[in-house]
Amino acid sequence: MTEATTAEKILEESEERPKEKAIDKKSKTGETLKRLTVGMSGGENKGKFISGTILRFFALMALVTLPFITGQAMNVINEGGATEDLWQWVIGGVIAGAIFLVLSFLADRTFASLATKALYKLQTDLFKNLQTLSMGFFYRTPVGELLSRITNDAEVVAQYYEQGIAQIIRAVMFIIMIIVVMLAIDVRLTVVAMLIVPVVVISMLVITRIASPAFEKMQEQLGETSGFQEETLAGHKVIISKRRQSWADEVNEANAADVFDVGSKAFFTSLMQFPLTQTLSYIQVVMVYVVGSLMVIEGQTTLGTVTAFAGYVALMASPLSQISNLVSSALNAAAGGERVYNIVDEEPTVFDAPDAIEYEFKGGHIEFKDVDFGYVPGRLILRDNNFDVAPGESIGICGPTGAGKSTIINILTRYYDINSGQILIDGQDLAKLTRESLRKQIGAVLQEAFLFTDTVMNNLKYANAEATDEDVIEAAKKANAHDFIMNLPQGYDTLLTERGANLSQGQRQMITIARAMVADPKIMILDEATSNVDTRTEKLIQDGLRALMAGKTSFSIAHRLATIRDSHKIMVVNGGEIVEMASHDELMAQKGFYYALYMSQFKGAAPGGMEAVAMDFVST
Ligand SMILES: Nc1ncnc2c1ncn2[C@@H]1O[C@H](COP(=O)(O)OP(=O)(O)OP(=O)(O)O)[C@@H](O)[C@H]1O
Ligand SMILES: [Mg+2]
Repeated sequence: MTEATTAEKILEESEERPKEKAIDKKSKTGETLKRLTVGMSGGENKGKFISGTILRFFALMALVTLPFITGQAMNVINEGGATEDLWQWVIGGVIAGAIFLVLSFLADRTFASLATKALYKLQTDLFKNLQTLSMGFFYRTPVGELLSRITNDAEVVAQYYEQGIAQIIRAVMFIIMIIVVMLAIDVRLTVVAMLIVPVVVISMLVITRIASPAFEKMQEQLGETSGFQEETLAGHKVIISKRRQSWADEVNEANAADVFDVGSKAFFTSLMQFPLTQTLSYIQVVMVYVVGSLMVIEGQTTLGTVTAFAGYVALMASPLSQISNLVSSALNAAAGGERVYNIVDEEPTVFDAPDAIEYEFKGGHIEFKDVDFGYVPGRLILRDNNFDVAPGESIGICGPTGAGKSTIINILTRYYDINSGQILIDGQDLAKLTRESLRKQIGAVLQEAFLFTDTVMNNLKYANAEATDEDVIEAAKKANAHDFIMNLPQGYDTLLTERGANLSQGQRQMITIARAMVADPKIMILDEATSNVDTRTEKLIQDGLRALMAGKTSFSIAHRLATIRDSHKIMVVNGGEIVEMASHDELMAQKGFYYALYMSQFKGAAPGGMEAVAMDFVST
């Protein structure tokens, strides 16, 4: 392939590959907020949510009586009333205060438990759905992005649940109550007290208009920053070996600076809200006192009423300033929530058909009929694949890098669905089988060995939870992994670190092979399973594998042809097509593609004409 065509292909692919941003679609703030709120207040939480709201209502009622009581006490003093009358109001005030405290505590507790529940549900939904998604999703979404959704985005939603919703209810309810009480006491003073409210509301709207896009931008930027950090950590080896630490530092600093810029703008504007509403509220109190005093002098109202009004205006300042903050925190939550929901709603591209049936193992007869497949639309990787594998046959697969060998395995295990054609397994159409039943019978040791941060024993049991320790040890012995496991510091109880980094590549492969053996599947797939072990160890493992695979249909992909030489049949894949399929001896006699490959590996030099064949090696 020439330079130009490679570049074209990469370009083509990057255009086809849906960028993560694309799933963010257009903003639907209102819808997301509603969905978030219903997550806390709907369904089985409804009763609890209503009782929390009722508790809050009565708590605020008690609080709202306080300025009125103060006013009445003031009137008693002003009119030179009896001490008993004063005491009456004092005791009334204490009782109202106590009721407010107790009911607020109960309401807070109710809302806190609802918040925790809603958050727990959102996070489990998110994780659960991630588990159902198909390979394609993980291929196009970097892990760092996903982690950011699970941490940063879920965090802003958590804040909305933990404080936002309860405070919005509280603030709105409180403001309405205060207005109603004020109207009941004195309409004219209410008008004076409310004069400044539109100013507060307008300034709040202006501020949120500036702050909320900044918050949205900040969330996005945060995602990018942690995505980069995750990738750098995962790729630390490359970074260190290529001495790119300072580059990583620079990129990270630039990212962090971007977060800082948008973040400080967002926070500054939203912080402005508090002093602004406070100042406006003081102006309002002064206005009430000035107008109120004039009215008292003219005998139109009492000093007590004016005092009560000043109290109400002061009480209103806090929910009013809160509302503006809450609006921006709600918008922030909507931005984060939307990104979380995008994953919660993401649907697997490979799923069981509604009428899917369980795969019934009948020996392991596998047929590919005119199978076409591509990972992305418009770019076929496998073309017109036809082959037939009899029950119990062992198939070796070889071919150049990128030829499509792993891809054949990916569609056989239904990690991806094919574009056209048909795959039959024991006469049953693969597309109509449940994935669960299929994967129970097909065991695969894939090209990328992944081990969990857990003991060797648990890693080995991963594919078969019912296996006993004895089963595991027996399988490890068969895979010839037992001796090296026993040599680990704590034998089978040795804790492997993430990605199995405290083992050599070959040792990791041996563990994954033993893991497949523990599962003891009916059909076995090995993708470069022994590519990282020395030839002597490979021989040992092969012996074990042969025992395991005896009589079972199996596929082994290998670049080292000696590994698959003894297979019943060898399938040669080139450029997404099966170019040869026969036994080693037959293929050698044909002097075709396989012959050329084989000779180049074993003789080091090609026989006449081989260069011409080698030139034809193509990736897909
Ligand atoms: N998940 C994927 N999404 C999109 N394209 C992919 C994916 N995996 C592989 N490809 C493309 O499919 C083609 C075949 O890849 P495949 O992994 O099947 O090669 P292979 O024969 O197994 O190679 P190797 O010997 O290097 O393992 C390649 O061109 C590759 O770019
Ligand atoms: Mg491969």
